[in-house]
Amino acid sequence: MTAAPLLQVEGLTTLFRTGRGEVAAVEDVSFALAAGEVLGIVGESGSGKSVTALSVMGLLPEPPARIGAGRIRFEGRDLLAMPARERRALRGAAMGMVFQEPMTSLNPVFTVGDQIVETIRTHDRLPLSAARDRAVATLARVGIPSPARRMQDYPHQLSGGMRQRVMIAIALACAPRLLLADEPTTALDVTIQAQLLDLMRDLQTERGMGIVLITHNMGVIAEFADRVLVMYAGRVAEEAPVEALFDAPRHPYTVGLIGATPTLEGTGGALVTIPGTLPRLGDGLPGCGFAPRCLRATAACRAAPPPMVEVAPGHRVACLHWDRPTPGEARAPRVPA
Ligand SMILES: Nc1ncnc2c1ncn2[C@@H]1O[C@H](COP(=O)(O)OP(=O)(O)OP(=O)(O)O)[C@@H](O)[C@H]1O
Ligand code: SF4
Ligand SMILES: [Mg+2]
Repeated sequence: MTAAPLLQVEGLTTLFRTGRGEVAAVEDVSFALAAGEVLGIVGESGSGKSVTALSVMGLLPEPPARIGAGRIRFEGRDLLAMPARERRALRGAAMGMVFQEPMTSLNPVFTVGDQIVETIRTHDRLPLSAARDRAVATLARVGIPSPARRMQDYPHQLSGGMRQRVMIAIALACAPRLLLADEPTTALDVTIQAQLLDLMRDLQTERGMGIVLITHNMGVIAEFADRVLVMYAGRVAEEAPVEALFDAPRHPYTVGLIGATPTLEGTGGALVTIPGTLPRLGDGLPGCGFAPRCLRATAACRAAPPPMVEVAPGHRVACLHWDRPTPGEARAPRVPA
């Protein structure tokens, strides 16, 4: 019998109450992550990446958010059925998260040291001196020079790169078995991006940690992910091992993303545009959300959401015409790994 995956998400639908009624930000999303694996989640702004991660962590404010359907299992345990107290105990300890907005998740009125020590003591109940030693060691591990001195700093005294390292240190301080890293390096200079990603990969190898790495950057995906989940308008468009995704992308949206790929050494920036925009939440398109931008679209695509089909082992695509590439969906050469 194979062991339960570290994380298993099945049919997750997350709704938000808005002025236009309740709308799905994430709809019927399923994926699994094994220990020691890096799953990249990619998709343009608003595609539901952060809402997926925050749903797993149980950190969305309810209301306005609500999990409408689905199941989330961590090491076989059903997170949605678990008492809030148990879920809180997992969060920050067995499950860590690096948030997309470091300044909104670091508290400006406490020193960096206090914030790491607090995280450690909440979960591990160590004496203060032992917690401080571990905090200094964790700051050193994420490459912060003079870590004992930096413990006294307030977040605004640090550079963007240093704050990002502190965020990673807080997420790693209790040696989580699962790390959700939401755009952990965006907005940083490319050398620092590469250093931080290498660091996360070292820790993942040392500890067998599973990582969900959310990014806009297909260059980062190509270098760091084992498998990739491509999201579009709150749904999974395609899931594949990283080589298969780059060698044989099947969803026209993925084909577009890969054609628009910057490299880590290149712009390091956001995705180049695919013509058109994401549908607005609650627009109630009955069929495939990509149809207005898709060169392959037919009437059948607009009638109902396309079912997910497995086109090769571990390679799933939600597209009726996955086997009909169309001229104009030009692809650039494969990103060097
Ligand atoms: N509190 C909220 N209330 C209403 N809608 C929300 C809320 N938070 C997120 N959404 C909506 O959910 C959708 C998915 O947002 P999400 O933040 O997950 O996107 P994302 O893929 O992480 O984008 P980005 O790449 O910009 O971070 C968006 O349409 C967003 O407007
Ligand atoms: S289902 Fe149809 S509209 Fe949607 S991506 Fe596939 S071909 Fe395009
Ligand atoms: Mg986000």
